[in-house]
Amino acid sequence: MKTTDLPKIVDPRGNLSFIEGDRHVPFAIRRVYWVYDVPGGEVRGGHAYRRNEEFVVALSGSFDVVLDDGTGRCETFSLNRSYNGLAIGRMMWRQLENFSTNALALVLASEPYDAGDYIRDYEEFTKLAAKR
Ligand code: TYD
Repeated sequence: MKTTDLPKIVDPRGNLSFIEGDRHVPFAIRRVYWVYDVPGGEVRGGHAYRRNEEFVVALSGSFDVVLDDGTGRCETFSLNRSYNGLAIGRMMWRQLENFSTNALALVLASEPYDAGDYIRDYEEFTKLAAKR
């Protein structure tokens, strides 16, 4: 998994970036949510999704996304540009951490919210991931 640069229309009046589903992100966008006002030192995520895929952008500020595909090896991606995002496939354990002051995390999702799609127990996640 790697980060992707999005279109960036540079303009002296202010820059503009955009995202189209199935083009800049590898799925049709069915939900958008954002995480903000994160107190220093707090961690978000700490789960995987069975079906849901996501694309994460640091619209402002910065934070790290730590991914684990179930093997226990973690890969950290630092997001700190409004025109750069990270696609996260299904069945990836993710943690968002190291938020800067005023960080704004935009998340595009392939599925509507479904509490049943979450895997919140890491042991269960590694067992399911090993079966794939
Ligand atoms: P959660 O996904 O656990 O947050 P994070 O992974 O960022 O730490 O969601 C936190 C709460 O918000 C949880 O009670 C479910 C609710 N929620 C929704 O109702 N709809 C959504 O689209 C999302 C992402 C969360």
